Amino acid sequence: MDPKSFMEANSKQRLMELFEFLRFPSVSAKSEHKKDVLACAEWLAAHMEKMGVETQIIPTRGHPVVFGNKITSPDKLTVLYYGHYDVQPPEPLELWKTSPFEPTVEGEYMIARGATDDKGQLFTHIKAIEAFLGTGAELPINVKLFIEGEEESGSENTERFINENKQLLKADLAVISDTAQFARNKPAVTYGLRGVAFVEVKVIGPNRDLHSGSFGGAVPNPINILAKIVASLHDKNGRVTIPGFYKDVHPITAWEKKQIKRLPFSQKEFLAKVGTKGLCGEKGYSSLERIWSRPTLDCNGITGGYQGEGGKTIIPSWASCKITMRLVPNQNPVDVINRIDKYIRTICPKYVILEITKHGGTPGVVVPTDGPWLAAAGAAIKRGFGLEPVFIKEGGSIPVVGTFKRVLGLDTLLLGWGQNDDNAHSPNERFSVKDFERGCYSSLALIEELAKARK
Ligand code: BES
Ligand code: MN
Ligand code: MN
Repeated sequence: MDPKSFMEANSKQRLMELFEFLRFPSVSAKSEHKKDVLACAEWLAAHMEKMGVETQIIPTRGHPVVFGNKITSPDKLTVLYYGHYDVQPPEPLELWKTSPFEPTVEGEYMIARGATDDKGQLFTHIKAIEAFLGTGAELPINVKLFIEGEEESGSENTERFINENKQLLKADLAVISDTAQFARNKPAVTYGLRGVAFVEVKVIGPNRDLHSGSFGGAVPNPINILAKIVASLHDKNGRVTIPGFYKDVHPITAWEKKQIKRLPFSQKEFLAKVGTKGLCGEKGYSSLERIWSRPTLDCNGITGGYQGEGGKTIIPSWASCKITMRLVPNQNPVDVINRIDKYIRTICPKYVILEITKHGGTPGVVVPTDGPWLAAAGAAIKRGFGLEPVFIKEGGSIPVVGTFKRVLGLDTLLLGWGQNDDNAHSPNERFSVKDFERGCYSSLALIEELAKARK
């Protein structure tokens, strides 16, 4: 049997195995799930080992890395596959139509936390490798699999891991499927991702909640103050007001504008997808330019005072919020964090205590837009989907891509099989079974195409 026939013969089995993988609540952000994360790593390692990939679980200061390799000849191309087996917290649970960790098929979709981000997408490469090993066919490339367990909580130990394991990770190129297609039946090669930087801001006022009748008007209200701080981070044109925020941002190139113009993007459909009454953003840019090529700032959560049933007339003791900035290449996360810190310190009134926690971040990246690997990826997608891929960027971040380049000198191929309305990080996360299948066939073809491109 050849690898493709093996794949055809195993489609049901493969989906059942993916469902086993999806049943682990491997939520990396929450310590209560530490055991589940480990159990998931163990399941994955055992699965890869059974396929014939030499696999180990490597502890880190956080969640363990699952590392596998199958090296058959020093003359072959070595490909480093990266993915993450951890997932986002499923909350709010009441908005899920089915249980997040009990995968269900509904119409064309499988529904489960991690279906598209990233277990389902990662699994396509694992199954492509299996198609060779399971038939005894010669794997035409050397493969290494580096699967981390804390991407969704910021990959805090990953850079150290890469620094400490340069030899283990040595390869000719990296392959990641953790992005999306451009649209339905528009598979894509992604050539850039934004970075991200995190801060938390807390404003502390009175040493306890106070009666707002007896004290209101004469005592600083931390919520009012924090709201004003957050509001002053953008101007009326949707630009971020932090001095020097745009200092290192390159203007969008003519080439990129042309790429974006060529894509079939409907503002109306986009609006319908997000369900708001209208769209907004930095003046002078289109939606895709705003998401792909401009830095942004967003408040991700804000807390303070009383939000329970009924009313409570108080001046709250404190208010806090979490802010992330999405960055484009050439912006330095540390620099940007220092700038927001300095700016908030200047605008915050001195009669409250201000605490800013700097959480660091990861820079934006661009990967090569031509060359043999890219051509191979295009050919593989064409074989797996029967469709020509488009060239896109994405607004999300995969911290490891920049680290691969910086530390290992490695370029990455970003091939996404998902859709951006697959509800990643949202309730009812899903992945089209058809996209999963087409992803599997593309991954299989990629192995052959990369081997060919090497020659
Ligand atoms: N798979 C996503 C990255 C992604 C999102 C790519 C959207 C393309 C479009 C990844 O799992 C993710 O969620 N990354 C985080 C990184 C952060 C926690 C450092 C992100 O982008 O928020
Ligand atoms: Mn992901
Ligand atoms: Mn994610």
